[in-house]
Amino acid sequence: MPPNITPQATQRPVLRRFNLVRCVAICCLALIVLVGLVVLITWLAIRPRKLDYTLENGSLQNFNLNNNRHLNATFDFVLVAYNPNSRTSVYYDFMESEVSYKDQTLAFGSTDPFFQPHRDTTRVESRLVATNLALSPSTYKDLRREKSSGEIKVDVHFRSRVRFKVGLWKSKHRTLKITCPSATIHLSWSKHFENVPCDAEL
Ligand SMILES: *[C@@H]1O[C@H](CO)[C@@H](O)[C@H](O)[C@H]1NC(C)=O
Ligand SMILES: *[C@@H]1O[C@H](CO)[C@@H](O)[C@H](O)[C@H]1NC(C)=O
Repeated sequence: MPPNITPQATQRPVLRRFNLVRCVAICCLALIVLVGLVVLITWLAIRPRKLDYTLENGSLQNFNLNNNRHLNATFDFVLVAYNPNSRTSVYYDFMESEVSYKDQTLAFGSTDPFFQPHRDTTRVESRLVATNLALSPSTYKDLRREKSSGEIKVDVHFRSRVRFKVGLWKSKHRTLKITCPSATIHLSWSKHFENVPCDAEL
């Protein structure tokens, strides 16, 4: 006959160990929930909201196309940057701009670095110059046709290196790409520029 071991005698230490494990597990869980809550509350408080960009003015001067398919032009754009965040401010450490027409880049420009505080709207003016730029035959043809029609449709791109600041903390540099598609530039001064909402990609 096997020795009669009472089940209670073996179960008691196991039970005690089990209770300890359960207690540690509950404590760990409580801690995780607490840390999660703190992170969530901090996140909600400083929650970064999308920066917003609109192209608010565009004009073209010294526009000249010669018969050798070369272009001279000076573009002026006003990009309005809105930072809706109540705690996050933005350093624009570098910004360049580019205007393109049907896949051909017409002109480049750059803008001075600037700092944008929270809940702020900044107007960024940029001038892009094309000097004796050689055009492809099809671009030349289309551009000449649009010139005689009095308005030119271009895409405007901005590229910037930005850093975010929350309190004393500053983020690393990130590349921000802003695209303002199908901006119509009127060659006659009397026509009003229609605002273009831009897409931003971080
Ligand atoms: C747009 O730019 C042109 C040329 O710089 C300027 O004459 C015009 O007043 C501007 N319009 C607005 C609404 O800012
Ligand atoms: C552009 O301007 C330069 C001088 O700045 C001139 O030599 C050239 O012929 C011009 N090109 C066109 C297409 O007008």
